[in-house]
Amino acid sequence: MNRKYIVTAALPYSNGRLHVGHIAGAYLPADIFVRYLRSNGDDVRFICGSDDNGVAIEISSRKENTTPAELSARYNARQAADFAGLGIRFDIYGGTHQPAFVETHNRISQDFFKTIHANGHFVKRTTEQLYDGQAQQFLPDRFVTGRCYHKLPDGTPCNNPSALGDQCEQCGNSIDALKLIDPVSVITGTRPETRTTTHWYLQLDKFQGMLADWFSLTSLDWRPIVTNFSLGSIKTGLPERAMTRDLTWGVPVPLDDPDAAGKVLYVWFDAPIGYVSFTAELCRQRDGDAEKYRDWWQNPDCKIVHFIGEDNIVFHALIWPAMLMGTQFTTEEVQKRGSAYTGPKGAGYYQLPYNVVANAFLNIKFPGKEEEKISKSRGTAVWIEDYLREFDPDPLRYYLTINAPESQRTSWSFDDFVERNNSELIATLGNFVNRWQKIVTDDFARKVPASTNPESLETDLLARIAKIPADVATDIESARFKSALGRIMEAFRECNRYIDTRAPWTSRKTDMARTATTIHTCIQAVRTLGVLLDPFLPFAAEKIRASLGVSQDEWKWSRATQPLPEGHALGPIPEVLFKKLDPKDFALTGASPK
Ligand code: MF3
Ligand code: ZN
Repeated sequence: MNRKYIVTAALPYSNGRLHVGHIAGAYLPADIFVRYLRSNGDDVRFICGSDDNGVAIEISSRKENTTPAELSARYNARQAADFAGLGIRFDIYGGTHQPAFVETHNRISQDFFKTIHANGHFVKRTTEQLYDGQAQQFLPDRFVTGRCYHKLPDGTPCNNPSALGDQCEQCGNSIDALKLIDPVSVITGTRPETRTTTHWYLQLDKFQGMLADWFSLTSLDWRPIVTNFSLGSIKTGLPERAMTRDLTWGVPVPLDDPDAAGKVLYVWFDAPIGYVSFTAELCRQRDGDAEKYRDWWQNPDCKIVHFIGEDNIVFHALIWPAMLMGTQFTTEEVQKRGSAYTGPKGAGYYQLPYNVVANAFLNIKFPGKEEEKISKSRGTAVWIEDYLREFDPDPLRYYLTINAPESQRTSWSFDDFVERNNSELIATLGNFVNRWQKIVTDDFARKVPASTNPESLETDLLARIAKIPADVATDIESARFKSALGRIMEAFRECNRYIDTRAPWTSRKTDMARTATTIHTCIQAVRTLGVLLDPFLPFAAEKIRASLGVSQDEWKWSRATQPLPEGHALGPIPEVLFKKLDPKDFALTGASPK
């Protein structure tokens, strides 16, 4: 088999901490997918790192009175620690402006830009923009506030005095910063002037035909939130987008043109290229050759899968594919092939994503309050650092998967989290693994006993369980993680019913052969289900593996249904898999200091 996969998870901005919403959105599903692929023997590289460039990082570093370099290095390290604590294991955690990555990242990003430019996909335009004379810089939309110029539905002016440069939060309309009444620069508080500036605009409308064809070729089993949004956007038309900015923090625009001086690439242009440049750095580390990234990104046999939150769909399912097409085809070729697109050019050219998996957002529900949005400023978030200080990673992984926002918003509720931990992880899963441990220790010296008289109760149960690996695999490969985990939990419920019926704690007093058969059956069930748990609950799965005395090599998807032979020596009684929780344990119900 040995398929090749590049799996990416959206690069988090390195200006803040991670909360449960981030984890539920992209990182946990990606990690489950990758752990499954590894268990299955596929060749996979799991790529992530921080999104360090762009305005947001600049604004935050001003607020924290530091430099973008210092700020992004600090948050990059904290995010990496959060992921490690949750068992989310990337092959590399880079950063688009981190010292070890920035050189390769800038080079590959600039190559992209130059190739797309040479293929004729940019139009250079000069437009007016607000300029802060005191700070001596152009103001991105988010650096400006002012009075809203829109009218309300009843005809009266909105007049919100603090509309933002891109949106008015009072009337909900989008804002053209140049039209704001009494604009104010966020940087200096002064009134900006209007100046002209030149930028390079990617002609996204030219790719509409190709993108539509690509969707019909590729996206049949993609999630509807991704395809509906993307096809809808193509239908209404993709506006051109400036791919350069008047900033100093970022990737310098690589053109020999005086108008390009002092400008950088738009952060959403260079960020997805981070996936490629971090792969190059990984190849340099592992194979001593950064150029080997082409064996992944420019290889038609490698499947590229992006995991993202729903706010990133436009960038990963439309703009990024257009960029990739733009590196392969000239404007004329795009025109010609636009209505007969049959796939990317072959090896040596960037390949398009195989799947883009997006989750909806996660809301939060505090006891006695309505469900609400997760918000940093309102303090309605559960921060990973805080969570990990007090709790184990697996219950969070469980809750965020079984309750994942795969097709619509779901919410993190403390009561529900505790309830599911206690009734599902402990009372269903942990309980089944533990119920027969004392018997196998006391009566069978921790060796797999013989199954001498199995009846249909045994053979039916094991036959049912033998089918589960394939069903769970199908679910995972189609990004139905919630359903996959649900199947495993349903199997544990059946196992509990089985052992209730056989009651080995009673039969051991009168019938050792019967008891041996029961315990044998329980062990085989856990042997199979334990392997399947690894992608979801890696810490618990590892304890189960050790307690069964199974080697890492035997703990693979393809071996999951291979029975442990009679006489096989089990390992020690497993450590406690899950701890009981009480809603009162949560001090985490609000913001906590940075
Ligand atoms: N930083 C972006 C966000 O948090 C995601 C960037 S994903 C990438 O929304 F592909 F562009 F890197
Ligand atoms: Zn308004």
